[in-house]
Amino acid sequence: MGVTDGLTIRVPGDKSITQRALILGAMAGGESRIGAAPRGADPLATALALRGLGVRIEGLDGPATTPLRIAGAGPRGWRQPRSPLDLRNSGTGARLLAGALAAQPLSVVLRGDESLSRRPMQRIAEPLRRMGATVEFLERSGVLPMRVAGGALRSIRHDGSVASAQVKSAIMLAAVGAGMPVEVREPRRSRDHSERMLEAMGARMREGWRDGAWSVRVAGPPARLAPLDMDVPGDFSSAAFFLAWAALAAGTQPLTIRGVGVNPTRTGFLPVLARMGVGVEAVVGGAAGGEPAGDLRVGAPGSGLRGVEVGGGEVTAMIDEIPVLAVLAARAAGETRITGAAELRVKESDRLAALAVNLRRIGVRAEELPDGLVIEGSRRPLAGRVECFHDHRIAMAFGVLGASPGCDITVDDPGVADVSFPGFRRLLARVSDRARAGARGSATASEAARPPATAKEAGRPHATARRCTIVAIDGSAGAGKSTTAAAVAARLGYRHLDSGAIYRAVTLGLMDPEGGCADVEHVTPRELAALALEVRWAGAGMEILMRGALVPEGELRAERVNAMVSRVSAVAAVRDHLLELQRAAARPPGLVAEGRDMGTVVFPDADLKIFLDADPRERARRRILQRGQRDPKPEEIEAEAARLGVRDRTDSSRPVAPLLMAADAHVIDTTGMQPQTQIDAIVDLAIASADRRQPIHRTGESDRR
Ligand code: S3P
Repeated sequence: MGVTDGLTIRVPGDKSITQRALILGAMAGGESRIGAAPRGADPLATALALRGLGVRIEGLDGPATTPLRIAGAGPRGWRQPRSPLDLRNSGTGARLLAGALAAQPLSVVLRGDESLSRRPMQRIAEPLRRMGATVEFLERSGVLPMRVAGGALRSIRHDGSVASAQVKSAIMLAAVGAGMPVEVREPRRSRDHSERMLEAMGARMREGWRDGAWSVRVAGPPARLAPLDMDVPGDFSSAAFFLAWAALAAGTQPLTIRGVGVNPTRTGFLPVLARMGVGVEAVVGGAAGGEPAGDLRVGAPGSGLRGVEVGGGEVTAMIDEIPVLAVLAARAAGETRITGAAELRVKESDRLAALAVNLRRIGVRAEELPDGLVIEGSRRPLAGRVECFHDHRIAMAFGVLGASPGCDITVDDPGVADVSFPGFRRLLARVSDRARAGARGSATASEAARPPATAKEAGRPHATARRCTIVAIDGSAGAGKSTTAAAVAARLGYRHLDSGAIYRAVTLGLMDPEGGCADVEHVTPRELAALALEVRWAGAGMEILMRGALVPEGELRAERVNAMVSRVSAVAAVRDHLLELQRAAARPPGLVAEGRDMGTVVFPDADLKIFLDADPRERARRRILQRGQRDPKPEEIEAEAARLGVRDRTDSSRPVAPLLMAADAHVIDTTGMQPQTQIDAIVDLAIASADRRQPIHRTGESDRR
């Protein structure tokens, strides 16, 4: 099927990127050009606030095809406004502008609409005050309206308790405006548009996981920020509604969304869709404004939507997609459980409450958790009137559900979608009509019409084959390879190849009745072929068959197998025999392959190679805990560490498949790292490699340049 099959659309430019480009453009020394900037209510509010600060912005009244031109006034060149600046509904605008204002010798009142005036501002007021700015709440503590009086600042290190790109960006903008370094640490990695843009403007950025937190440092802010010249890629969060639309319209033609930003800190919804049974093919080609962009192509799930569990570190990279996930869950088989999403309570509405109330109104069973939702999918007709609570994403999520078969849903205030997606309803109606008519064609909201993001994008040939991303995980004994690999695979919706289990099956197959493996060193290819080993996939999980029968998990883990497996797996003929079997496991969207020689022999071209390591005592402690023993004594840890030391030495000196690290492996030292942090780090790297973008860090930290 070529990419011209089915429907093709575009979505408006990215709101997050545009707001940053506006504010940073206004701080730059010289004129910035921002192409394909969306004219939604949020970016407009930010642009008008900047005009209130004396910044000249041209092109605002034109269509999205007219680039915006911003006359940067330098980091501290804004004028005192005559009246309060109204950011209306835009949290990004209010928080980022507050940060930038903290460095300006002005006293400015920021206010917003009813929804924005309920959202927490203490999270930016606290660090900005610590930097030396005055932040005063004028009516109620912790919310807008507030006055920001800037001036001489000092450098800080901020340890945030929530992952928030808005807080991180506000602090960085204050520091850059004041010309000083700063460090922001967050528990999970939030979107990195500001970092990319600052780097493009000449700032020296450093980032990486350090001591269990994601650390971003503006190491060297330049005296003058270079102006921007960029095109804004399509907004992934807007595209997500149409991915969901296609997933719900089972049986109709595929949909292609062109020129969408696929920054890995934003695309966490894709692996979740994969787990629900929806395959999205991302053909990434070229970048716009330092951001990867590409076409997303989605087909309706062949065997229907499945419920899914989403939680832990996953939510940050799909923070704005929870509403659309919730409406998909309403139509998925079984239960969907979303946790770790307490931040949704302080978005444009309390999204957890809004979703639960509205789902129940249309006949779906939904339970609210303090930090999430449990939704029971239903195939029955869904009908009712839903309330948007002034929240654009609630309006669009139920709009999409309402456009799917078997639903009769009225949205009380559909126009609120204009905040991020002007033309949403028209585009939804158009694609729905075309899908019904079975027509081929393309549709674009006229407000959303954009030129191709780059010349490269316009002329680029499109690959149609779905790629399989291969992540190879190796590491020293006890470094946590298998648990990590399983969790990473589950998060990405990839298969998990547990090579250890395959070697165990061979061991079992070659074992004599007494539990020995006499002469295994001389096993022949014919004897190995007679085992008739097969790997079968039940979803992402692996099952092994030998001579046509399933090998039970319990047998693979039996003590007698434990005692023999390392000998069997050191036999060259065995390893050769298993090569093709392992390689055949690679299927789109991806494979997490774990085990010795994965990144060197089995998949030498793996997209991402990880080598896990940890201090021997830490590995020893984990091993003992894994065996079910609590509170190991120091001497027990020492003894186990000594055993691991011996194992390390034999592993690295054995002639066949020694413990070798691929030259291009990312070494992750997991000592003192929470398992979740380690998983998040690998998932981030994997998504970056899947997007064919060079990862911006190894471990610890590295310079972006
Ligand atoms: C945004 C960050 C996220 C997101 C919001 C836009 C940004 O908010 O929900 O829609 O542009 O930085 P938080 O930083 O509060 O998580």
